[in-house]
Formats: sequence, structure tokens, C-alpha cells
Amino acid sequence: MELNILVLPGDGIGPEVTEEAVRALRHVAAKFGHSLRLSEALLGGIAIHKTGSPFPDGTAKLALEADATLLGAVGLPEFDDAPPERRPERGLLGIRKTLGVFANLRPVRSYKSLLDSSPLKNHIVDGTDMIIVRELTGDLYYGTPRGISGSGEAEQAVNTMIYTRAEIQRIARMAFELARKRRRKVTSVDKSNVLEVSQLWRKVVIDVAAEYPDVTLEHILVDNCAMQLILNPRRFDVVVTGNMFGDILSDEGAVLAGSIGMLPSASVGPKRPSGAWVGLYEPVHGSAPDIAGQGKANPLAAIGSVAAMLEYSFGLKEEAAAVNAAVDAVLDSGRVTADLRPAGPPATTAQVGEAICQAIG
Ligand code: IPM
Ligand code: MN
Repeated sequence: MELNILVLPGDGIGPEVTEEAVRALRHVAAKFGHSLRLSEALLGGIAIHKTGSPFPDGTAKLALEADATLLGAVGLPEFDDAPPERRPERGLLGIRKTLGVFANLRPVRSYKSLLDSSPLKNHIVDGTDMIIVRELTGDLYYGTPRGISGSGEAEQAVNTMIYTRAEIQRIARMAFELARKRRRKVTSVDKSNVLEVSQLWRKVVIDVAAEYPDVTLEHILVDNCAMQLILNPRRFDVVVTGNMFGDILSDEGAVLAGSIGMLPSASVGPKRPSGAWVGLYEPVHGSAPDIAGQGKANPLAAIGSVAAMLEYSFGLKEEAAAVNAAVDAVLDSGRVTADLRPAGPPATTAQVGEAICQAIG
């Protein structure tokens, strides 16, 4: 099979983790006899520096043509005070919207060999295995009106939280479909005791649940969810929520996995005629400019994102399993980066990438 993939290294540690992810991708493709057609483009702060725009037209065109896109991270501190349209993050929001990848799948599981890496007690974390299904193209992130206006004491800012029934239906269906392949439980997260948007969310999720009588549905308020995630994470199987709540809860989920450097993500959109998902694959972690260029970054989230790409965009389950098994093997070997607090000296980003290729065999 030919895999036509766009690579967007982005900012900060993005390029270094992406390099290792591409190394793993090349390795697994060679092993299973697939040919790779890789192209590379600019997104985020580096794109602003080189073109003036965080999401250049050329990048949009390549992303629409590729079978799948692999992204590193975006964000640089020199843009902290820039207006929203000149911020690296706008590039990420732009590509998500352009590709229409409305469902962001963020699996969170505990790894036996990393139990001591989590600040939480082992007996709480052990056995965690959930997937956070975050809606990705709506909510406060895109709602209008938005903006800052006025001046002096009257200066004000507004963002709009908005969801349509159709948007809630499609993300809810995604969650229920996933639950059918797992432990058949969906937890829907909202703030329906206060927000009208959440009241509609809950109503629509209940409607969709009627199509899936074999799946158990529970509702939980977002504040309580934040607490339950670290009190009793094993109770969660599929967690479905909106863009803003999902952003926040998935970083909290990283604590369960031992490090945010462990969390891959797949953002999928409408299915192509071939039946494959349009997909954007990226680690959950950000650009971490403080450690960029030092070989300290953990590439396993990026490598896990490659596994997700093989599975969802190309239907290559065996190849995906080979990558995931290599991640497990490398974790067991203890040859890991500093964020995972290895007993011995930490491995570099590239050493972890090499170990992954060796483990793939
Ligand atoms: C994420 C990130 C992004 C988001 C930022 C970088 C715009 O935090 O993917 O979780 O908020 O979606
Ligand atoms: Mn985030």
C-alpha cells in the first residue's frame, strides 16, 4: 500500500519528536512492505516566521491532498502577546477546521512499568483504560461573536459557547461506536446545571443513546468529572465531551498515564469514499519550548500517534499493533526519557526512537 502522509513538525519539541515518529513510521512501513510518500510543510510559529501566516495556503492544500497528516506541536513564547490571528495556535485551529476533523480521540491508559511515574498512588492508577472523545471543531474555540472591544473600564471580551444538535449527534455516535468495541460504557461530561449549551448536549446524547441500547450511558458534571478522574479513573471507559472541557480533562488524564509525553491523539473527520478516516495525528503535549532542541523530549506520544494513524487512516491494524507493542517493550526496558523518571540515566529523544525501531524488529 502507498501511504501519502503530510508531516508538520511545527514548533518547540515538535520537530524532534516528529523525527522519531517518522523514523518509526519508515521502519514499520519497510517491515510490512508499504511505500511511503512523505511531504513536509509549515504550521504554527515557524510558519508565521517564514510566511507571515500560522496556516499558509500551501499547507492547507497539501493537508487536503494527503491521506493523513502527522503533526508535532505548535506554540512559541514570542507570540504570547500577539493578536489571536497571529498566534501559532490559530494554525492548529485552522487545520482542524479545514480538514473537518471533529472527533479528537485521546486514549488514556496506565502502563504497569510507569505506575511509579504518576504522582498518584499505584492502586488508584493501575488498570486505567479510557478514551476521551473530545469534540474538536466547535464550542468556545470557534463560536462567534468573539473578540475584544472597547477601552478603559469599558474594555470587554467575548467568546461564544455554541453547539448544534447535528454536531452533538455526530460526536455522540462516535463515542457510542467506540464503546461497542470496548467495555460498552459512555460517560458524557457537561455543565448542564448552569449552561444551556450543556442542556442541549445532554438531551441530544440521550437521544443518540436510544440507538445503542447495548451501551450504558452516564452523565457527569465537568467539575465532578475532574475529581473522579483522579479518585476513581477505572470507572471510565469512553468519555465524551465538548472541545473546551475535553481540552482541560485530557491534560488531567496525562497524570494517569505517568507523563503527558505518553499521550497520543487521533483527530478524525468524515470518512473518505475508501472508508478510511480523514485524520490528523498529534501528541497531546504542546511544544514545550523550555526543553526544545535538547534531546530531552519524550517521543512516545508522537510515536503512538503514528500507530493511531496506521489504524484509523489506513486500516493497518497489525502494523499499528507492532508499534504499540514496541512502545510497551521500550517502557519495560526502562530506556526512557527523563519525564518518566527512569532509575538510570535518562535516554535521549533519538535513543528512544532507535529503541522503538529495534523493538519493531
Ligand atoms: C491541545 C492543545 C491545543 C488546544 C492548543 C495548542 C490550541 O492544548 O491540542 O490540547 O487547545 O486544542
Ligand atoms: Mn490541550
